[in-house]
Order: sequence, then C-alpha cells, then structure tokens
Amino acid sequence: MTDHVQDDATRKSGDAARQYANMIWQYRQAETIAAMIHVGDKLGLFKAMADAGPLSADELAAKTGLHPRWLLEWMRLQAAARVLAYCGDDRFELPREASDLLANGEASGFAASSFVGGHPSGQLAGLMESFRTGIGKTYESDGMAAVTKSEGRHRIAAERSVIPKMIPALEGVAGKLENGALVADIGCGDGALVIALAKAYPRSIFHAMDPSRFAVEHVAVRAVETELTNLRVFVAPAERFPLPEQYDLIITFDCMHDMTQPQAAIAEIYRRLADDGTWFIKDIRSKPKFEDNLRNPMLAMMYGFSLFTCMASAMSEPGGAGLGTLGFNPDVAERMSRKAGFTRFKLHDFRDPGNLYYEVRR
Ligand SMILES: C[S@@+](CC[C@H](N)C(=O)[O-])C[C@H]1O[C@@H](n2cnc3c(N)ncnc32)[C@H](O)[C@@H]1O
Repeated sequence: MTDHVQDDATRKSGDAARQYANMIWQYRQAETIAAMIHVGDKLGLFKAMADAGPLSADELAAKTGLHPRWLLEWMRLQAAARVLAYCGDDRFELPREASDLLANGEASGFAASSFVGGHPSGQLAGLMESFRTGIGKTYESDGMAAVTKSEGRHRIAAERSVIPKMIPALEGVAGKLENGALVADIGCGDGALVIALAKAYPRSIFHAMDPSRFAVEHVAVRAVETELTNLRVFVAPAERFPLPEQYDLIITFDCMHDMTQPQAAIAEIYRRLADDGTWFIKDIRSKPKFEDNLRNPMLAMMYGFSLFTCMASAMSEPGGAGLGTLGFNPDVAERMSRKAGFTRFKLHDFRDPGNLYYEVRR
C-alpha cells in the first residue's frame, strides 16, 4: 500500500470514528434536552411562553413566579436545542409550531406530557434484572401514574377520531351502538375511550376490563364523575372474561401486543363475540420484518417503549409470548385471528401515523 492510500484510509476511519462519536454524544444531549422539556412542561413554562412573543428571563419570571437565573439557563438550553427561538439580547420565543406540541394540553398532537424526565434508578434496575431472569413486569406494577399519563390524548383521539370517523367505517357497528349494543373494552387502561363511547351511545352497555387494579379503579372513579350509568368495570384479563355474555362489539386498543397469552385471549374473544359481532383492534403500525421498519424515524424509541413497558408486560410471566410494541403487525394479527376461527379480517388505515386498525369478524 502506498503512503498516499494509507493516509486516505486513516483519514476515512478517523472521520467515521468522529461521526460515530458525535452521534453517540447527540443521544446523550437528547437525554438532557428531554429531561428539560419535562421540566418546562411541569413548571408551565411552555404554556407561559405560548403566544407571548420574545421574552427575557425576568419577564418569564414575572409570569411564572419562578427564579430568573434558573429560567435564563433553561431558556438558553432550549434555544441551543432549537426548541425555543433565540431573538438576540437574551430574549427567547416559543415558535408558533411548538404551541400544540408543547403548550396546548388539549391539542391532539400534544407531546410534552410524554417526556418523563428520565427513568428512576429502581425502574432501570428492574429492567436489567429482567435481562437476567427473562421475566418482565405488569402494567399494574407501574402504579396509577402509568395509567393516567396519556389520558388527555386518548380522550381527544376518542372524541375527534374514533367516534366520528372510525366507528362509522365499521360495517353495521354505528347503528347497533345507537340502538343499544353490548360492548366490551378489553385492556381499557385509563378508560378514556370507553367513557367517551358510553357518553356518545347512551343506549348501549359497556363493560371495561383490565387486569390492572389501578386502571379499573381509575375508570370506576371517572364513570362516577361523569355520571355514567351504562358502564361497568371489571378487573379481568382478556383470557378470562368475567361474565358469560355475548358481545356485539369487542374493542382491544393498543393492548394485544402487551399480553402474555395473546392467542388464548383471541380464543376467548372469539367465544365471547356474538355471531354477527365485530372485534375492533388498534395496534402499533409496523411491518413483519425488522428491515422493513428501519425507515420509521421513531423506531428506536418504539423499541425503548417495548423494553420498558410493552414487551415487559408481554413477558411478565413465564412462557409469555413477548410480542412487544412492534409485534402485533398485520401478518401476525391476521394469522392469530384466523387460527382462533375468525374468517373476516379487514385492515383499516385511518392515517394514524402510529397505529393500524383491524375489523375482525367470524
Ligand atoms: C398501552 S395500554 C392501552 C390501554 C387502552 N386500551 C388505551 O388504548 O389507552 C395496555 C393495557 O393492556 C392491559 N393488559 C395487559 N395484559 C393484558 C391482558 N392479558 N388482558 C387484558 N389487558 C391487558 C394493561 O394492563 C394496560 O392497561
């Protein structure tokens, strides 16, 4: 090899090493920025800055009652991260395009509340122990905070999208709900969907079920607050419905991939669905092969959710199926449904960037 070729190879490997190191440190930086977005959300800083034009730290302090020196450092961090716009002279502005994402808790795209501010060391220790034992953890073990963290977003999606757009797209379902149907919401979580449905269709009866006591307790409280008389709640897993009823509509939103025994759950759903009933599924938008998912710019985050929550739940008992966040893709959903006896399987793409929807019938 000539000196010239060798120099070139050394330079290229140096560039690659620098680029790689830069990428790694950007992840470290993102961790810090994410924690400070959480702080901004919890302290109401984005809300205070929304539509306020360029602000100094003193002006933000006057609006929030917080200490200006701490605010200045936080504003500089957010401007360095391009979350705030820097207007010169230590004045900062929340860009208009940030309002729904960071300041408006009623917006369907509100994202600030999903920044958790890092993971407590106990949670990380538990995760690492799961790598050793193979056993994950249930949703219930994460307590009440885990139940309610996305409730606002789920309520908005139910009111603006599921009820007006999705239910009418399912064959015969809207009419049944208007006239009076029996509906089960399996893995109901915070219950935002089933509560919105129970309000929208007062002639129908809704049974909300979840194995997490925290979730069920929360939905029960919300049902009383909203004075709903057509909603009952049950602590129950999908594999064993609590009542021997036949349902006109069974809903499983964002939970099939969390189950330890999804095939047993689908068999129970099949048994519990009325002959002309509908099973309506929402699950994460994904493709069967890993390489086909690589274009998803949020893919690594999805695997993070899986390790922390979804796969952890799906592996929370020995022999758990462990599908995980991206595991209930259209191929798996159709194959498992047909195995249980279902013959009609329809994929709906409601242009929800994160999820696909399936209408399944006998
Ligand atoms: C991501 S949350 C989704 C909650 C709700 N359906 C929604 O769309 O917001 C997943 C839920 O599935 C529940 N879950 C886990 N295993 C389950 C099982 N075997 N049967 C029924 N629900 C289960 C969890 O307790 C959790 O509440």
